[in-house]
Amino acid sequence: MNDTMTGNGLIAAARAAARHAYAPYSRFAVGAAVLLADGSLVSGANVENASYGLSLCAETVAIATASAQGRLRDVVAIGVVGGSMDGVGDTPVRPCGRCRQVLNEAAQLGGRDLQVWCAGLIGDAVEEHRLSQLLPDAFGPRDLGLA
Ligand code: THU
Repeated sequence: MNDTMTGNGLIAAARAAARHAYAPYSRFAVGAAVLLADGSLVSGANVENASYGLSLCAETVAIATASAQGRLRDVVAIGVVGGSMDGVGDTPVRPCGRCRQVLNEAAQLGGRDLQVWCAGLIGDAVEEHRLSQLLPDAFGPRDLGLA
């Protein structure tokens, strides 16, 4: 599979996941789809909380799900989409700082620089990034002798 096909597949899976966003407070739905080394996908969506600060981002939910399946070391790429549930939602959404750090754990454990594909809930605008570009000089398990 070439890069464009990978990106388009991840964005489609992330858009499907975003339909399950629980975001009644921000009304900003985010979906994420993680590609594992064997070609399988694990997805997630944001889960907000009445105590706002406890809300979970879509990327973190997807990575936690991969970890719960024993697959944290196998993450190759992630697709992230998001947008207002009330607006147009065609602007690409990039992972927040905390999610970048969460992604870095998987990246260093697996010895890979993750591809990060970003898009809106709709539309053709798709960005391709590398995690090393989004979070340069990251602190991670390598610093603690774990990778
Ligand atoms: N959100 C994510 O799920 N991922 C990000 O990378 C950025 C923000 C969620 C958190 C909250 O539920 C909503 O988007 C608005 O911040």
